[in-house]
Amino acid sequence: MKKFFQITIVLIGIVYTATSYLFLLLTVVSFKYNHLLNHEILNQERLYFQDDFLWGAGTASYQVEGGNFNSNWWRFEQLQGKIKNGDRTNICVAHYQRFKEDIDLLSELNLNSYRFSIEWSRVEPEMGKFNEQELDHYKQVLLYLKSKNVKPMVTLWHHSIPIWFEDIGSFEKAENINYYLEYVSYVVSGIGDEVEFWLTMNEPMAYITLGYISGKWPPGNQNFSKVSSLFTNIVSAHKQAYKLIHKIDEEAKVGLSEHSSYVVPAGKYNPIENITSMIIDYSCTHFLLKKVQNELDFIGVHYYYKQTIRLRHAFEVLTKKPEDFEDQSLDRAYYPLGLYEVLVRFKKYGKPLYITEIGVPDYHEIERDQFIREHVREMYYAIKSGVDVRGFYYWALLDSFEWNEGYSAKFGLIKVDMKTLERTIKDDSWEYGEIAKCNCVRND
Ligand code: BGC
Repeated sequence: MKKFFQITIVLIGIVYTATSYLFLLLTVVSFKYNHLLNHEILNQERLYFQDDFLWGAGTASYQVEGGNFNSNWWRFEQLQGKIKNGDRTNICVAHYQRFKEDIDLLSELNLNSYRFSIEWSRVEPEMGKFNEQELDHYKQVLLYLKSKNVKPMVTLWHHSIPIWFEDIGSFEKAENINYYLEYVSYVVSGIGDEVEFWLTMNEPMAYITLGYISGKWPPGNQNFSKVSSLFTNIVSAHKQAYKLIHKIDEEAKVGLSEHSSYVVPAGKYNPIENITSMIIDYSCTHFLLKKVQNELDFIGVHYYYKQTIRLRHAFEVLTKKPEDFEDQSLDRAYYPLGLYEVLVRFKKYGKPLYITEIGVPDYHEIERDQFIREHVREMYYAIKSGVDVRGFYYWALLDSFEWNEGYSAKFGLIKVDMKTLERTIKDDSWEYGEIAKCNCVRND
């Protein structure tokens, strides 16, 4: 019997290593982006995008509005030690009151699209009790955007949910999906005339992993027991919302946004790190997208950084440069080429792609203008390699409440003075405005 086990383990080892090398070989021979660029592109001074390309910036209701006291995040914020420096949203950056000023600034930057989210906990503060006035607020936002010729991209659920929905078990229970659909139906029937692009949800994998595995986000769970049902129900919620939105508005374009980092092995030739990178990339992004691919008119891609997989005592997932791993800040490993690689991996879905989030906080070594320029260029190269990218939304329009990080990570194109709430376009944001105006990027 003992021998049988030994042989089995050895066989598993051989198969695992052989498969790993096969994958490695496939990756190495697959594509290397420089090969795809022809000289014609490399010699152009400026790279031009298609005429109807969307240049935008995004926000999420909970991160900018303030006053979202019926949200699960508000309750979570009150717990000791959950938010850096004890920051609280309270009035936040008062986007709720100042949305016109913010949209004016977005227009000043020549952006032609704005991604924002509807706060479910405002529209339905108590189960089944919808608040018409709150829905009207969003209608006003949409009408203002229209008056400025700015196309909206609207997210229906961006991390924050009503307290009552969390208390009844959120998406852990299949029977709760209907509450989400009722909310979606209320919103889309009420303001759908003004919206072409809907995102049913933002980064559901973040909600699952941070809320139910690491416990860093509400509801602060740290066990796997609910993950499988949560995943299944979220997939089903998206599929049903997709059908529902189309029933209300046949013309609507409905998608979902998901995060994707560029996952690479620390050791190029280490088969175990190679295969683990592939597994992580697949399970964090593509596993979910594959399940919903028939219910997507487009995909919202989020790209921020490269993740390096290193095998030491156990697996480490490094979201910074390996040498900076001890640094606990949001100082991530920015890597523009990774955007190209990530976009190419989305080609298989055959759907239009919009980069619905990409951004850098203020204090990073790379300036915002350089960050944007280099990523826009990589996006262009991806388009030239046959990837159907139709829009780019910098994250974020404003300095905002960055979840666990509080106000310490300032991603905004627009600086907000936290005392006076005064807004100013940052010096290193103007180049993005120029890119949007010219619909092109410098190629030097
Ligand atoms: C989230 C945003 C967040 C951003 C920057 C994204 O994954 O959707 O809400 O502010 O990352 O960390």
